[in-house]
Amino acid sequence: MPRLIGILTAGGDCPGLNAVIRAVAKPAIRAGFTVLGIEDGFRGLIEDRLHPLTHDGVSGILATGGTILGSCNKSNPRRFATGSRPDGTPTIEDVTPRCVQTLKRHGLETVVVIGGDGSMSAACEMAEGVAAGGGRVRFIGVPKTIDNDLWGTDITFGFQTAVATATDAIDRIRTTAESHHRAMVVEVMGRNAGWIALHAGVAGGADVILIPEIPFDYDAVAAVVKSRSAHGRRYSIIVVAEGARPKGGNQVVARMDHRSADPVRLGGVGAVVAAEIEKRSGIESRATVLGHVQRGGVPIPADRVLATQFGHHASLLLAQEKFDRVVVMRDGKLGDVAIGDVASRQRLIQMDDPTLAAARAVHTSFGEA
Ligand code: F6P
Repeated sequence: MPRLIGILTAGGDCPGLNAVIRAVAKPAIRAGFTVLGIEDGFRGLIEDRLHPLTHDGVSGILATGGTILGSCNKSNPRRFATGSRPDGTPTIEDVTPRCVQTLKRHGLETVVVIGGDGSMSAACEMAEGVAAGGGRVRFIGVPKTIDNDLWGTDITFGFQTAVATATDAIDRIRTTAESHHRAMVVEVMGRNAGWIALHAGVAGGADVILIPEIPFDYDAVAAVVKSRSAHGRRYSIIVVAEGARPKGGNQVVARMDHRSADPVRLGGVGAVVAAEIEKRSGIESRATVLGHVQRGGVPIPADRVLATQFGHHASLLLAQEKFDRVVVMRDGKLGDVAIGDVASRQRLIQMDDPTLAAARAVHTSFGEA
């Protein structure tokens, strides 16, 4: 059994990361492992920034937001930005040899990666690169993302807290919408998946929910707002996922982050939807972008429990020397799948999704023509 493990948190942060770190590190330390915290995701391996985690150091962090290790969503060692050209574009290099050096220097061969699909993909690519460089590294993955879009698991930790935050925002927006008789558009995160929009929209009683999986029609959205107004409901709530797009149209890109292996940053569709509603319905409309508020703050109890369960399962995999697996929750049961199956695969909302059906049953519109 390896007596040394590393832990890193990679990709966009989310509530519950510290709870996983605690659930992995505490039993490992008690079992006699030396546990190294790798700083800022894979960047810590590239730049040799690791420090030992102690039992006291991982105590009292269960309920804290963020990650005590730091994170980074542009640190895939196979495609790492090492500098910039005169025109500002980054120079991208394979810096796996630097990781090999770091791993060898510490005698580290086992790393617990707490990350999303991009991080699992980075882990797989790195393992191949390390092997080609004469080294060895094995990973155990724990699925993290507020987007809930990791293939292979029914749920990721962080998602339920993001939904709670977004629902609280919708509840607040509802009262001002009602006072001013406006259509209020709430833009939520989720990249190409509409899980946050669907669940927060249902929980917040949204009149329209726009998700990437169902391209929408502006006239259909405006018709819902107009019809509500005609029936005396003088306000409407529209929840839009950042990745939603009109039929035949494109997603709205906020910026390109070329230092990231996944450079597209979505954002701005809420303002476009609000402007189109106002133009087509004559009803005053406003947009609110919830943004990174959804990733911040303390995890709700359900995420603290899920993160602890995930971390515990990862520590069992470690004890059984079952490597290159990702912890998953399927049909309410913890399990694990091959890391290669999860890498770069997204889980989107299917048209027979029960939450989608429940929303339709209470007459929530998805903006379909
Ligand atoms: O994947 C998590 C996420 O928060 C997405 O919902 C969002 O599109 C993206 O990360 C934002 O990334 P950044 O923190 O780089 O702006």
